[in-house]
Amino acid sequence: MNTHYDVLIINGDVVDGTGSARFSADVAISGERIAHVGDLSRATADKVIDASGLIVSPGFIDAHTHDDRLMLSDGDMSPKVSQGITTVIGGNCGISLAPMPRNIPDPVTPPLNLLDEQGGWFRFRSFAQYVDALSARPAATNCAMLVGHSTLRVATMDDVTKAATASEIAAMRELVIEAMEAGAIGVSTGLVYPPAVAAPTQEVIEVCEPLARYGGIYCTHMRDEGDRVIESLDESFLIGRQVGVPVVISHHKVVGVQNHGRSAETLAHIADHMTRQPICLDCYPYDASSTILSAKLVANSTRVTVTWSKSLPEMAGLDLSEIARRMNLSTEQAIEKLLPAGAIYYRMDDADVQRILRFDDTMIGTDGLPHDEKPHPRLWGSFPRVLGHYSRGLGLFSLEKALHKMTGLTAGKFGLIDRGVIRQGAFADLTIFNEQTVGEAATFAQPVAASIGIAGVLVNGSVVWEEGRPSGQRPGKVLRREHLPADTVQ
Ligand code: ZN
Ligand code: CU
Repeated sequence: MNTHYDVLIINGDVVDGTGSARFSADVAISGERIAHVGDLSRATADKVIDASGLIVSPGFIDAHTHDDRLMLSDGDMSPKVSQGITTVIGGNCGISLAPMPRNIPDPVTPPLNLLDEQGGWFRFRSFAQYVDALSARPAATNCAMLVGHSTLRVATMDDVTKAATASEIAAMRELVIEAMEAGAIGVSTGLVYPPAVAAPTQEVIEVCEPLARYGGIYCTHMRDEGDRVIESLDESFLIGRQVGVPVVISHHKVVGVQNHGRSAETLAHIADHMTRQPICLDCYPYDASSTILSAKLVANSTRVTVTWSKSLPEMAGLDLSEIARRMNLSTEQAIEKLLPAGAIYYRMDDADVQRILRFDDTMIGTDGLPHDEKPHPRLWGSFPRVLGHYSRGLGLFSLEKALHKMTGLTAGKFGLIDRGVIRQGAFADLTIFNEQTVGEAATFAQPVAASIGIAGVLVNGSVVWEEGRPSGQRPGKVLRREHLPADTVQ
């Protein structure tokens, strides 16, 4: 074929994201899309990338992020594109940057402070204003955004320690409608967190009610991931059934030593319910979690490391026990001194992590916290860790299967059309990497590090990462969820 393209990626092994076996092929790009896949030895292009000895995969889709603000404040998205991620799902765990129709409380209500501790970024009065800002100054990655129930509560309620009144529910529902009209893909909850813990199941159902007619999705950081994990799964499934939308169980895990091993039970329970309603889940590949510092979470962890502290910033990176020892305080007193703060909690079992990763409908997400001083290494390392440590190293699954969990599966579950696959006509979101060397460089001790083996990353046909650094191009788009009654909306 004697044709001229914008970009040619030649001599690579293509893994197309569907889970099918790899094949040798060249990939041609015209504009934002893949123009051809096959033997293109006679074609020419403005830019030719030689992928000899390398894998050419669909760009990775990060199923679970807190990148709402990062896309605006550091649009190169280095923690993400450096590990091959080309699309992020934002607004998770009940925390979205928008909408905030009134001034955010000072200090910012935890865990909303994970997005912005100062509060100035919570300035988008409507979800449409936020989407406009993302579109006016695009990031390097695409995004698809959820609207957070905790954000809605902080935005509409005078006392978030109570159940919402009928008029507060109505106000939240109006904000959900506005967000869905503006392009949100669904609602997230974080029912374990202070601003939402008082919300009864029925409140969530009523707030989420508009989702069905917009073809939205419900993503949840459940009320309990420990002793009451089965009850929390049932609550999540009930919400999905009542609202009539698919459910995503966020960062599925079982926490606390007494619950180690119970992923066998939770996954069987999920699989059973999947026969009756649409459910999927995401997972990050580590046996430690991370969020705001709280005594409740410290109680069921074997070790805790502080990731940031507003009052004692110099303590970031130290273990809580070490901080208490240095300050000659009890653990409880040390927590009080550090707040507001963030932490890493060692409280899972790797056998559970492996079992959850292996589950057919588990997507990969980072759950990275990009504004932490000493972040959990999942922010920079999750995807290469699945490919290197869990797939190549432990043989948990094939490379093709691992990549499906990062691409085609995720695009399908989130309704991202023409993404997550390599085929003619799909968007040219692509990641080129070395399967022999790919792996995370970020560690708990040194958490900020670009991954190993990622040779090049393209978003919508533009190179965003090559030779170990961001290219400076920012071709990202705000993606909508494609669904059947799409044409009835607007
Ligand atoms: Zn969460
Ligand atoms: Cu999260």
